[in-house]
Amino acid sequence: ILVPIAALAMGYLLGSLNTAVIVGKIYGKDIRSHGSQSAGLTNTLRVLGKSAATFVLVGDIIKGVIACYIGLFLDVNFYSGEAKDSLCLLTAGAGAVIGHNWPVYFRFEGGKGALTAVSVVFMADWFIALLGLGFFVIIVVLTRYVSLGTVCATLGIVAISFIPVFGHSVYFNIFAFLMAIMVIFRHRKNIQRILSGTENKLTF
Ligand code: G3P
Repeated sequence: ILVPIAALAMGYLLGSLNTAVIVGKIYGKDIRSHGSQSAGLTNTLRVLGKSAATFVLVGDIIKGVIACYIGLFLDVNFYSGEAKDSLCLLTAGAGAVIGHNWPVYFRFEGGKGALTAVSVVFMADWFIALLGLGFFVIIVVLTRYVSLGTVCATLGIVAISFIPVFGHSVYFNIFAFLMAIMVIFRHRKNIQRILSGTENKLTF
């Protein structure tokens, strides 16, 4: 149990390097004081534009992937073939998402964790991640609400993770479920705005 906890802690320290806050500082703005005040990809695109958003996109994906590799590196059971899903990969990935949302280096004010979470899902099962992304794109194209697409895709990934044909361990189900709760919690203001018709729509 100590090794997965160590993986969680290392993932947290890495995830706390919130790319949107760092890129915002380089561009001379605290992203958390503008737009939706979320330190994430969507708000960076909204406030700082496409090139800044590209850095955040790449940075958040790399962060999730590195956290997973740290977890895999620590996971002895995974190498011995005793684990179907790597518990350490999932705890390190969960740590990265928690760090992204509540970064220790930036007053615990971060983003909503969806991009980092989907990077972790991609590392655990790329096919489920692609299904979730497909779901996200369809909802965003239909409604132009990024937040609605994110919440629905996260719930979709949880539902898919329980389909037996994908053959995941209960660890993956628990991870997907906890990520969904975190994403919904972080999107609670977006959900209120969607219900009241005041949520920002993506404009091209
Ligand atoms: O993943 C974040 C996105 O779903 C919503 O971002 O900035 O519109 O609150 P934002």
